[in-house]
Amino acid sequence: MERGTRPLNIALLTLLVVATISGVLAFGVGNPSHAKWVVAVHGASGLGLLLLAPAKIIVARRGLRRPGRARKMVSLTFTVLVLVAIGGGLLHAVGGWRSYLGLLPMQIHVGAAIAAVVLLAAHVVMHHRSARRGWRPLLRGTDLSRRRALLGTGVVAGSAALWVVAPGLPRRETGSHVVGSGDVAGVPVTQWMFDTVPRNASKGWRLDTPDRSFDLAAIAALPQTRVRTVLDCTGGWFTEQEWSGVPLSALGLRQGASIEVVSVTGYRRRFPRRDAETLLLATHCGGRPLAAGHGAPARLVAPGRRGFWWVKWVTTVEVSDEPWWWQPPFPLQ
Ligand code: HEM
Ligand code: HEM
Repeated sequence: MERGTRPLNIALLTLLVVATISGVLAFGVGNPSHAKWVVAVHGASGLGLLLLAPAKIIVARRGLRRPGRARKMVSLTFTVLVLVAIGGGLLHAVGGWRSYLGLLPMQIHVGAAIAAVVLLAAHVVMHHRSARRGWRPLLRGTDLSRRRALLGTGVVAGSAALWVVAPGLPRRETGSHVVGSGDVAGVPVTQWMFDTVPRNASKGWRLDTPDRSFDLAAIAALPQTRVRTVLDCTGGWFTEQEWSGVPLSALGLRQGASIEVVSVTGYRRRFPRRDAETLLLATHCGGRPLAAGHGAPARLVAPGRRGFWWVKWVTTVEVSDEPWWWQPPFPLQ
């Protein structure tokens, strides 16, 4: 690789790595005051790539004149995926919560970004190989000259400035758009990846815990709690509603390290046992029994956690000695 292109590629690599890590974090963080920073770093690092595009185009044109069909195909596919990821992020910001050809901007965005990260590895490795065939090596020990420190500072400042001026509708600190707050009928029905709304989840419903089994009447007979809280979905929307039902601590659960809440669909999430007080097994939303798509007859309300923790159509609550974090950070189903 030519000498002058190394700082540029390192800057691109850094931005992509920061965008990927902060993107994954932005997906997981429920606390708005933390999310605010994560989303700012994410937006800035993603948009910062555009700042470097003019310089990269010059380098890429030179690369495209060199032989190596497979390498060039990978590079171009990678470029398209990065552009789709950035475009999807911007579409989410400016377009609000709506789908395009059946896909939400967040789905397009995250799908393209994950594929781009895979191809980024290929892009870097293929250039390393070429380097062995006579090009200069890609990643030699970087000497932190004053010029490079200046370039780094410029990229950080420029990216931050770009994020500040970027267009976008007002949204929550997590980046989600408000949908149907206070209007239960307007709450979207969305599931994590491959989960689907089950048929007749309410028919003959029972809730099994390690020591007891409840029917709906037994749950209704327990003291009821009301909570006004925000459901913030990683699909890019949020809604504030009043939920009512029984806290998990009212189910007489035995002691243990964690509680696992399981849906009739097999979808499950594990929580610290100490959260039993704040986790609500809700049967009503906005004073009405839950709709099928919203988890009828009983769903979890997990205040302060993103939507993928709010298990719907709950049929089992297990207690175990395994720590709560002993699970994939994001559900795989
Ligand atoms: C947004 C990120 C990036 C995009 C869209 C991108 C795209 C491209 C394209 C289209 C080419 C020309 C085709 C080719 O030679 O394969 C290229 C060349 C190249 N890329 Fe990237 N790239 C990115 C990031 C990186 C990174 C992070 C590295 C290394 C750490 C890198 C290293 C190189 C090298 C060494 C060349 C050859 C340049 C030359 O021949 O002088 N690229 N890139
Ligand atoms: C190639 C890697 C990525 C790039 C270049 C990228 C870029 C962007 C851009 C440009 C935006 C719009 C920011 C704004 O308008 O403020 C955005 C938003 C967002 N991205 Fe990414 N992203 C990447 C990966 C990811 C991943 C892997 C995730 C999650 C798993 C993710 C989650 C989000 C979220 C939640 C938003 C909405 C934030 C907001 O509304 O401001 N991103 N991304």
